[in-house]
Amino acid sequence: MTLSPRPATDPPAISSPGLPLAPDGYPAAGGVARRATGQAASARANREWWDAAAPAYLSEHGSDLGDVDFLWCPEGLREADAHLLGDVAGRRVLEIGCGSAPCARWLARAGADVLALDVSGGMLARAAELNRSTGIAVPLLQADAGALPLADAAVDVACSAFGGLPFVADAQAALTEVRRVLRPGGRFVASVNHPMRWPMPDSPDPDDLQVTSSYFDRRPYVETDGAGRTVYVEHHRTIGDWVRAIVGAGFVLADLLEPEWTKGRTQTWGQWSPERGALMPGTLVLVCNKPSA
Ligand SMILES: C[S@@+](CC[C@H](N)C(=O)[O-])C[C@H]1O[C@@H](n2cnc3c(N)ncnc32)[C@H](O)[C@@H]1O
Repeated sequence: MTLSPRPATDPPAISSPGLPLAPDGYPAAGGVARRATGQAASARANREWWDAAAPAYLSEHGSDLGDVDFLWCPEGLREADAHLLGDVAGRRVLEIGCGSAPCARWLARAGADVLALDVSGGMLARAAELNRSTGIAVPLLQADAGALPLADAAVDVACSAFGGLPFVADAQAALTEVRRVLRPGGRFVASVNHPMRWPMPDSPDPDDLQVTSSYFDRRPYVETDGAGRTVYVEHHRTIGDWVRAIVGAGFVLADLLEPEWTKGRTQTWGQWSPERGALMPGTLVLVCNKPSA
């Protein structure tokens, strides 16, 4: 059985007219704010932002992500070593926020029946190119993590590597959606920003490990354009918020991983660096089981 709702090689249309870019190739931020932002506005802004950022993001991180590889986080934890999803051969697997879909291709090569979902047509267009160049054509679907267009109990396993959950306004609602599409006894594993990153500056330098805002301030981080329109949104939850959202969505929390920096890994990603990684976590991995009955 295939999970594919559309032909695998069909590149999705890019719906955004395009945001103005800064010299580094990422969308130029006119300003930064902390303000309440709902799900529809978050999904619209992040779809447009990731459409515009896709070339810069993949040129900066594509070689680290690989074309057929499952990297959970900048610390260097790989599914090949962690086995968080169990044996995926013959399983129906949904990846949420797949980006260029290297994880989904890795899962397909491991024998899974995969569907890769992302809100951004720009990211999915690159995923379609890599489907062709690698010869591993995973089905691609453009949709918002907050409203999964799948039937109840459609998949055995779901996963997300920094895709979707940091960007949705209501984490419990998104987790409830994931629980709905999982079969009883199914598993969901997601990596997200470690909540401890939130109150500190976005810098890889260990000297910047200083608390400059409140860990308890849940107002989303928002970037705006010159007219004050929201162009990027990231939502913060404390560790307790995550536990309550997971349990409130009807999952059993099996584990919370805080991966340590991989020995010898020198790659820097934004504020993730070997120097900071030696001192504090940058990633939280949520391991959630749907009860069997
Ligand atoms: C940091 S990238 C991670 C992509 C990929 N997992 C990786 O490791 O490169 C975040 C991804 O989440 C996607 N995304 C953001 N908001 C989303 C939403 N509401 N629903 C689905 N995907 C979303 C973005 O388009 C982007 O591809």
